[in-house]
This record gives sequence, structure tokens and C-alpha cells, in this order.
Amino acid sequence: MDNMDGLEVTECTRCPELVDSRTRIVNGTGPADADLLFVGEGPGQQEDQQGEPFVGRSGTILDDKLDARGLAREDVRITNCVRCRPPENRDPTSEELQNCFPYLQREIEQVDPDVIITLGKVPSEHLLDRDVAVTNEAGSLAQADLGGRVRDVLICVHPAATLYDRSQEETLDAALDKAASMAGEGGGGGQSRLGEF
Ligand code: URA
Repeated sequence: MDNMDGLEVTECTRCPELVDSRTRIVNGTGPADADLLFVGEGPGQQEDQQGEPFVGRSGTILDDKLDARGLAREDVRITNCVRCRPPENRDPTSEELQNCFPYLQREIEQVDPDVIITLGKVPSEHLLDRDVAVTNEAGSLAQADLGGRVRDVLICVHPAATLYDRSQEETLDAALDKAASMAGEGGGGGQSRLGEF
């Protein structure tokens, strides 16, 4: 059974291994009309337990980085390529990525963000459908046909990369500076009001 109610997947059994390994389906969080849509790889242990993306150590880094740019977690939308935690935090397989892709496409179409920020190699390669050298390409803007039209995709390193390699922090900072400057550029609702502050 598969079921999507608005932006929420409420039931899904497309990936047998993930059905076994998950505690719950972890849907995206944040405004349904957010200007910035961050896309990670998939839920880890904390996310699986709490039912929200990026609430573990990577999430703390992301929250702090957003905060430093005048953005609250509540201002942006955060989601993942796959919504169920893979066993032992392994990367999602290409089949699992494909199984979950229609949900992500629908989320992109409905949220209609100004820019999609891919956090790390897996989401960057998945959404751009090519090999990506994330560290080299972080901060660069690419285009991809997603959620019904060609959209801007900003390549970014995964926040956790800064835990293992401090030099990645500048790369993350530069990409997030660019993302913050793009918020609201599309006009209309979402965080366009941020310009008032
Ligand atoms: N890493 C991800 O890619 N996604 C999460 O939700 C948490 C950590």
C-alpha cells in the first residue's frame, strides 16, 4: 500500500528492506510554500526515532548555520531522498531512491521552492542524475527538471562533512550564503517576507 496525503507519505511498502529497518516514515518538515528546500540523503537513527529530518548532529549544524544567516529551521523546508531509515545507515540503493522519487517530485512540485539545496553527494547525484564531485562543485548552481519544470539546484556539502573535515566548513558556509541570498528571489509568499527584517 502506498499513500500520500498532501506532502505526507502515510503508508508505503515499496522498499521491503526499509520497511523492516524503519520505525516510521520520516516526511519533510517546514512551510508548504518555503522558498528554500533542503534535500538530504535519508533519515538516520535520531530522525527515525523522532520522525523529523535532520534532528541529529547534522541537524544541529544545519540549524546553527541557518540561524547565522537569519533563517530559522521553521522558515525552510527540509526533506530527504528516501523517507525511511536504511539499515545500519547505509546509503539508499538506486532502487530505493527511485521508489521514493515520486514522493520527492510531488513535494517539489507542491512547495515550488526558489531553489533546491542538495546536502551531500547522494542527493546531488540523485537530483542532477549525473556524477557530482560535491566538494569541488559545492556552491555552484545547476538546473534539473524536477517537480514539473526546470529548477535551480544548489549543490552543497552534507553538514556532517564538517565534523570529519573542518576545511569543509568554509565550503558549507559559502553554499549556505548563496542559498540565503536566493530566498525570496522568486517573489510571492514563503520567506519573501524575510526581506522586511
Ligand atoms: N542526514 C541526512 O541526510 N538526512 C537526515 O535527515 C539526517 C542526516
